[in-house]
Amino acid sequence: MPLLDVRQVSKRFGGVAALNHIDMNVLEGEIVGLIGPNGAGKTSFFNCVTGLTRIDEGEIFFKEGAVRLDKLASHSIVKCGIARTFQNLRIFKNMTLLDNVAVGFHTRAKAGLLDAFFSTRRRQVEEKRIFSQSLSLLEFAGLSGKGNEISANLCYGDQKRLEIARALACSPKLLLLDEPVAGMNPTEKEEISRLIEKIRRQGISILLIEHDMKVVMPLSDRIIVMDEGKKIAEGKPNEIQKNENVIKAYLGEV
Ligand SMILES: Nc1ncnc2c1ncn2[C@@H]1O[C@H](COP(=O)(O)OP(=O)(O)OP(=O)(O)O)[C@@H](O)[C@H]1O
Ligand SMILES: [Mg+2]
Repeated sequence: MPLLDVRQVSKRFGGVAALNHIDMNVLEGEIVGLIGPNGAGKTSFFNCVTGLTRIDEGEIFFKEGAVRLDKLASHSIVKCGIARTFQNLRIFKNMTLLDNVAVGFHTRAKAGLLDAFFSTRRRQVEEKRIFSQSLSLLEFAGLSGKGNEISANLCYGDQKRLEIARALACSPKLLLLDEPVAGMNPTEKEEISRLIEKIRRQGISILLIEHDMKVVMPLSDRIIVMDEGKKIAEGKPNEIQKNENVIKAYLGEV
């Protein structure tokens, strides 16, 4: 059974079928590339899996069918083990890097509101643990030594790394990355590719939306292609590169 199993999912926005009977899955330990022209429905798909958008039809299962995701609120989906980054960077720019990552940990923290209010021993122990784990995650993401900097002062590439570090703080089983290298130079792209591979080696499965074929093709075990809300192709990167439907979708009819 797949880790993520999406069956016949549809979502309409008025007259637009953003997702039209989509079937797709992600296996444990896999990197799956999700590609397609602008407006194909890729981000809408992420929004449906993470509970930001309710689906109209279909079913979404997680953890080998054990969890029915499309019935859950987005905060419960994070707790189940799905984290994401956004096409438009979402970090707290006025906060330090450490605080940004700590926010991610708090989604899983055990201390409750009362512990916070009374500053209990349990809370102090937890804060310490979160601090040291946040430091390790920043180091993992290539941001060591920058924990106390204000996030707004980072270069764009480092801000993207920070967003990935914060997503990892939720201890995901599945990480959804929405165009993680958009707007980066070739060196930064290469570095983020290495980071994505490193994340997979931690046993985390990855669903990767990316327009840059030089990035998504070598990274992915499998590629899924969408166009106008439909899945139009699926296969190994070398098969997809020669697939006629895919070439047509990108180049338009000639
Ligand atoms: N909240 C919304 N309200 C109305 N229409 C929407 C909404 N979200 C997405 N759409 C529409 O659904 C379609 C799919 O959009 P989506 O953002 O999922 O595409 P995408 O594949 O991520 O494109 P891009 O590569 O440009 O990011 C588009 O026609 C878009 O205008
Ligand atoms: Mg998008």
